[in-house]
Amino acid sequence: MNLLILGSGAREHALAVKLSQSPLISKTFVAPGNGGTESEFTNLPIDPLDFESIANAISAQQIEMVVIGPEQPLVEGLIDYFENHPDPKLKKVHFIGPNKACAALEGSKDFSKQVMFEAGIPTAKARVFTLPDWNELVQYIDNHPLPVVIKADGLAAGKGVAVCSNRDEAIQFAASVLKDHAFGEGNSSVLVEEFLDGIEVSMFVLTDGIHYQLLPEAKDYKRIFDNDLGPNTGGMGSVSPVGFVDETFKAKVKDRIIDPLFKTLNFRGLSYKGFLFIGLMKVGDDPFVIEFNARLGDPETQTILQRMEGDFALALLSLKSQTLDQVEFTVKKSAAATVVMCAENYPDTPSKGDEITFILDSDALGKVFHAGTHKKGGKLATAGGRVLSCTAEGETLVKAISNAYQTLEQVDFRGMQYRQDIGLDVIEKRS
Ligand code: AMP
Ligand code: GLY
Repeated sequence: MNLLILGSGAREHALAVKLSQSPLISKTFVAPGNGGTESEFTNLPIDPLDFESIANAISAQQIEMVVIGPEQPLVEGLIDYFENHPDPKLKKVHFIGPNKACAALEGSKDFSKQVMFEAGIPTAKARVFTLPDWNELVQYIDNHPLPVVIKADGLAAGKGVAVCSNRDEAIQFAASVLKDHAFGEGNSSVLVEEFLDGIEVSMFVLTDGIHYQLLPEAKDYKRIFDNDLGPNTGGMGSVSPVGFVDETFKAKVKDRIIDPLFKTLNFRGLSYKGFLFIGLMKVGDDPFVIEFNARLGDPETQTILQRMEGDFALALLSLKSQTLDQVEFTVKKSAAATVVMCAENYPDTPSKGDEITFILDSDALGKVFHAGTHKKGGKLATAGGRVLSCTAEGETLVKAISNAYQTLEQVDFRGMQYRQDIGLDVIEKRS
């Protein structure tokens, strides 16, 4: 069957590589894709939010499965659009992702908290405020222990959260959301949230609405500079496994988070299908939810897919028949790591148009997944903030990290920046 992957990042490149290895997949399209997916697959110049053009491409290219990388098409109702489409052929296409009502777990932090509170899922205490509650909000922040976390309710491209060490900063951030509409008019409420002190980990679930499977976990490095300094980014690297995510921890995540979540959604008449990303904080020995996302993570996907054995396309296909329980799901004992290479001045005003050269043409140690790259006149150039993901496996995490950095040495472009300390904290904690 022909496959379409929506998105343009290294996550989508990694998904295309993994899924196209399946004997079930004949031809892989990526929309809009990047310089890397253009070389290996077929890019379609379509915006993932342009549902009508996606429908036309599905018909024209005889696509039978569509994997949605980023959250926005899901939050804006891509699944619902095709479920209700008048063309019966389109209804038969297999889309991997939750519908709009379920994707609101990511699209609205307020909705997500309500579900968590209803389900009794461990998470930070939070209260929601809108502009008419401004005086109450200021009073609430004044009485809140520090640090305090302020979150815009809706999607904000990863910039809608501020961990504030003083009340002025907190009030300023809340004002930027509610009064200055920094994240758009639609972002008209904020959450004032308790600060959770612990270690973060990303966990991933694949579910067919009845059964679910845990995918490998990963640790993501969000700050631009070593030692977790500097501004937040889309993600500078990731590693898997994460030592403390053992069977006991996984059992807590299942019993306290995943099972009650799906039960509560079902109770509300909702059936979640697709990938669920659980952003967790380990506080003491216990998991607390920071956020739910309706998709896989970037750069976690590049890493975790290396550790998955078996036919991933077959697993995704089983979602349609709700037979995920019959699919063999094995996670390799090996480790994997990703180091992200960014453009100069990322995350503020990343440079574009710098030529990328691969010093060695062998990528035996690892893989280079593209994100902000494009091809022009046969040459590859930078085209965005996060440019490439260098991903490698290894028998141990130390080896995987070393292989990822060796892969990175093959690449060169002007002004490139990357973190030198991906995974070091996890290795230190394990030894
Ligand atoms: P989110 O967009 O909700 O994932 O938040 C972005 C980042 O802010 C997270 O990855 C955490 O590092 C941090 N964060 C969010 N909520 C909290 C919280 N309640 N306590 C501590 N850190 C948080
Ligand atoms: N790595 C975090 C995210 O994809 O949101």
